[in-house]
Amino acid sequence: MVEVVTTRLPGSEHKSGSLTSDSTRDECAVIALDSVTREYETRAGAVRALDSATFSIVAGEWVAITGPSGSGKSTLVNLLGCLDRPTCGVLKIDGVDVAAMSAKELDRFRADKIGFIFQQFHLIPYLSALENVMLAQYFHSMTDEAEARAALEKVGLGDRITHLPSELSGGEQQRVCIARALINNPPILLADEPTGNLDQANQKIVADLLRTLHASGHTIVMVTHDPEMAALAERKIALSHGKVFCHPVRDVVKLR
Ligand SMILES: Nc1ncnc2c1ncn2[C@@H]1O[C@H](COP(=O)(O)OP(=O)(O)OP(=O)(O)O)[C@@H](O)[C@H]1O
Ligand SMILES: [Mg+2]
Repeated sequence: MVEVVTTRLPGSEHKSGSLTSDSTRDECAVIALDSVTREYETRAGAVRALDSATFSIVAGEWVAITGPSGSGKSTLVNLLGCLDRPTCGVLKIDGVDVAAMSAKELDRFRADKIGFIFQQFHLIPYLSALENVMLAQYFHSMTDEAEARAALEKVGLGDRITHLPSELSGGEQQRVCIARALINNPPILLADEPTGNLDQANQKIVADLLRTLHASGHTIVMVTHDPEMAALAERKIALSHGKVFCHPVRDVVKLR
């Protein structure tokens, strides 16, 4: 198992308590959707990819988003990541209505609050592992080589920092992607099929990393088709034809 050393994030302390009422959940919500709809205009008419989604995710929770192809998972993740805006409804991240922000404010907000882990890694092929992580720092308006090295060491890649992506295994590339997502210590990690391209051994390494990040207080929202990965989460949100089906919170949230 890869050992990740992280400090507990502020705001995740509620996990030692008992979250049983909906009002308590709402107070602790780091992500809250109220009747959020996303329609795409196409030549054939409007496609309602997300239909009146209402749910909340509390700080420190690990949620798996599941559903068949075309059910709206990426649409939902793009909205949660502030890469897209709802057609209607209210989406609050950390208590802030994202619709009220300008594009520039949203860029800053996203950089502070959210780390992205993609199935396709999206690493720059001609930059080393270290430079790929430092590029993420650049977008936060600060570069710090020591911090970038430390992020790679955290994910067990201290001996691979000068490697190009083509000189890394798929699992190692995904770990660079996770190191990059951890820059600036964002409270929310959004993962879209984080193990979709990995073999079983690397899947386990990434699952262990996510476990450790969750234990250190990160809120994790993870799209997955893999029932084993989904079983790691505390709660499942299932999508079908753009409709959200939340599994009951009280039955499945395992509080420490
Ligand atoms: N930019 C777009 N313009 C028009 N329709 C879109 C657009 N993006 C997605 N859709 C449609 O919205 C629906 C939901 O798409 P989405 O990509 O969210 O599905 P998904 O659950 O992520 O699927 P998959 O598992 O295949 O990635 C689909 O019917 C899709 O065709
Ligand atoms: Mg998708």
